[in-house]
Amino acid sequence: MGKEKGPQLKVEGIERQMRRSYDRVAPIYYRGWPLGKLMSWKASWQTRLVHSRFACRLPRGGRVLDLGCGVGVWLKRFQVDGFHVAGIDQSPKMVAYTRRRIPQADVFCRNMVNPGFRSGSFDGIISLFAIIHVPQVKQLEVFRHMYRLLVPGGHFLINIGAGGGPPGYQARALRPPIPNK
Ligand SMILES: C[S@@+](CC[C@H](N)C(=O)[O-])C[C@H]1O[C@@H](n2cnc3c(N)ncnc32)[C@H](O)[C@@H]1O
Repeated sequence: MGKEKGPQLKVEGIERQMRRSYDRVAPIYYRGWPLGKLMSWKASWQTRLVHSRFACRLPRGGRVLDLGCGVGVWLKRFQVDGFHVAGIDQSPKMVAYTRRRIPQADVFCRNMVNPGFRSGSFDGIISLFAIIHVPQVKQLEVFRHMYRLLVPGGHFLINIGAGGGPPGYQARALRPPIPNK
């Protein structure tokens, strides 16, 4: 194998490295979120935001997808609140922990750039601290899939970054381009 050159190979190398890193930290993530902490919806600004800006707008018993679900922290909360939950994560270990936490959930080891699922499958999509890891040249594809997967009038809650990072992770694919400061 030759030395990796060019932005595309660089992006793939970074993605591979990230998958390994998240595999490695998965047990720490899992131990860090005991059930009691998970169930406390009002524990932090994040949980308040998820509840007040997202969960409360979804139909009772609706279907929620988490892109980059990690160890299933949010999915567990949604499941306890009566939603049908599904998640994907690119780290096999993260997926294994989510399955352990929520055996009845549909959880898959997939890249959110190509998440699968039938169109209109979800009432809500959440993705926290995960799209920031997708190279910006590929983020548009993630947003297209989110649009495809949501029912008309569905809701999403995501957070994204604003430029910076190594080649291929910069804001080239977005229009208008986000300046890298
Ligand atoms: C910082 S963790 C956040 C986990 C979870 N969203 C939370 O808030 O607890 C980021 C997660 O995104 C996943 N991830 C990163 N890039 C991804 C991609 N392209 N497709 C699917 N999952 C991805 C990582 O494996 C990791 O589990």
